Amino acid sequence: MVLVSGSGTNLQALLDATADPTYGAQVVAVGADRDGIEGLARAERVGVPTFVRRVKDFTTREAWDEALAESVAAYEPDVVVLAGFMKLVGAEFLARFDGRVVNTHPALSPSFPGMHGPADALAYGVKVTGCTLFVVDAGVDTGAILAQRVVEVLPGDDVETLHERIKVAERAMLVDTVGRMARTGWSVEGRRTRFGDDA
Ligand code: GAR
Repeated sequence: MVLVSGSGTNLQALLDATADPTYGAQVVAVGADRDGIEGLARAERVGVPTFVRRVKDFTTREAWDEALAESVAAYEPDVVVLAGFMKLVGAEFLARFDGRVVNTHPALSPSFPGMHGPADALAYGVKVTGCTLFVVDAGVDTGAILAQRVVEVLPGDDVETLHERIKVAERAMLVDTVGRMARTGWSVEGRRTRFGDDA
């Protein structure tokens, strides 16, 4: 199960990977918090079911969170991947899918959490940044880290070129790690994560 808010290139990478039966995982559905986005179209093109739950259609944020959780639960996913999902999921959602919600973030955690990872890294002047896949907890981009990839910041970079280069690394990280989780299992002990095939 994948949740998206935008262009869905990370989702596309997962959809492409799952075409190989040895990958070990399937995308059972794609959910979004808004209509008319390319992420939903990508799922529809390959016949994966989609749904939309918009915050503004609910009287409270909690009601939205519960409805989102219900929609996700209907597909009985083993893992819920937030791939460019630009909303924080709430307590009810996390309680329901405890330890099974993962998010990809375009910075090297714990640096630059939030909505502007590439811009914040550029503004700070770091020479390397990257991407992080983590198990979602109640904080903003604070959960236990499953994988990270390093990306160099080049002298001519602007936010767009840097983010695009991060996204190349991010897609590979996501595909490699979600497949590994599906094939070997994973565990979380405090802040540390392990995979079933760890030495
Ligand atoms: C990705 O870089 C993802 O890490 C980022 O949005 C992009 C979505 O791209 N998410 C966040 O910044 C969340 N804080 P995509 O829609 O092409 O997969």
